[in-house]
Amino acid sequence: MSTIAVLPGDGIGPEVTRVALEILRRVRPGDTYVEYPVGGGAYDRFGTPIPDQTKSGVGQSDAVLFGSVGGPQWDGDKVPRDLRPEASLLFLRLHFELFANIRPVRVYPGLEEASTLKPEVVSGLDLVVVRELTGGAYFAQPKEFGERDGVPYALDTILYHKPEIVRIARVAFEMARERRKLVHSVDKQNTLETSRLWRKTVVEVAADYPDVTLQHVLVDNASMQLVRNPRQFDVILTENMFGDILSDESAMLSGSIGNVPSASLGRRGEPGRRFGLYEPISGSAPDIAGQNLANPTAAILSAAMLCRLSLGDSAAAERVERAVEAAIASGARTRDLVRQSEAYLSTTAFGEAVAARL
Ligand code: IPM
Ligand code: MN
Repeated sequence: MSTIAVLPGDGIGPEVTRVALEILRRVRPGDTYVEYPVGGGAYDRFGTPIPDQTKSGVGQSDAVLFGSVGGPQWDGDKVPRDLRPEASLLFLRLHFELFANIRPVRVYPGLEEASTLKPEVVSGLDLVVVRELTGGAYFAQPKEFGERDGVPYALDTILYHKPEIVRIARVAFEMARERRKLVHSVDKQNTLETSRLWRKTVVEVAADYPDVTLQHVLVDNASMQLVRNPRQFDVILTENMFGDILSDESAMLSGSIGNVPSASLGRRGEPGRRFGLYEPISGSAPDIAGQNLANPTAAILSAAMLCRLSLGDSAAAERVERAVEAAIASGARTRDLVRQSEAYLSTTAFGEAVAARL
């Protein structure tokens, strides 16, 4: 029996998480699910986006099912920087050392037309972004926001240590072994020192994986190649901020950012039974929140990843993934996946279409 911490959060988070949780309960009825507040809603109620009860609940859980955080009411200077909704997610990533962020992007049969790219370019696409999640510009000090000689200025730092690069590179190479044995390491070696270390280190790690082909791509070129010929990619290995950007771009190839799940893993546990946090890669989509319009696919597929990677239950994961595929094949679509004037399903109706095919 496992314990899952459920953190629905803000915006569409609660709607899509509810659907994913219902499906998770169906395939894992013996587990315990405990809900905790997080994000802007938690800030409004408790004065912090990550209350102590949430921290300790997550600490005692085997995995976290996460919705999304943020919204315009907490944007800009409305909330102190370290109390912003996004700070809760960054705290969880850092505190639990969830350094490996895995974002699989697939074009499901039937959704080729939903992409903004030509169907023949994206048809059959199957890639995964392996994003370093606890280093780089997001966390490195110093960070400053101030004024010097009357001129406002701001400063961020990008910092990577070799061991941080080694461990994420290993995740990517191991994953490639189970796939098409190809890793594209993305950096900006022509301008950044951190990228020089990145490339040198990845080359060293690659020596342990002679069966995997390694290619290096500069990040600007990678972003161009992703729309030019995305099927050339199998595993994309990259640092935190590049991964943030390229994963949104990759997700859109699938037809909607609402299709792409993610897993964030650390060292706790063992392979197949690692503690992890699972979330849609999309944001909180405040414009459609509370209207039963959001696409719950990413949340449902995140629950499937949770089964496979934290609960050691590949059978449950496959059941869920097949049900999503079958629902899509049967024509089930949320609003983000249809053309204007075409009929679509609500969030809950899409969830029912998936549940019916489990
Ligand atoms: C993501 C999100 C987060 C990030 C935000 C909400 C801090 O965009 O998970 O991709 O930038 O990592
Ligand atoms: Mn992002």
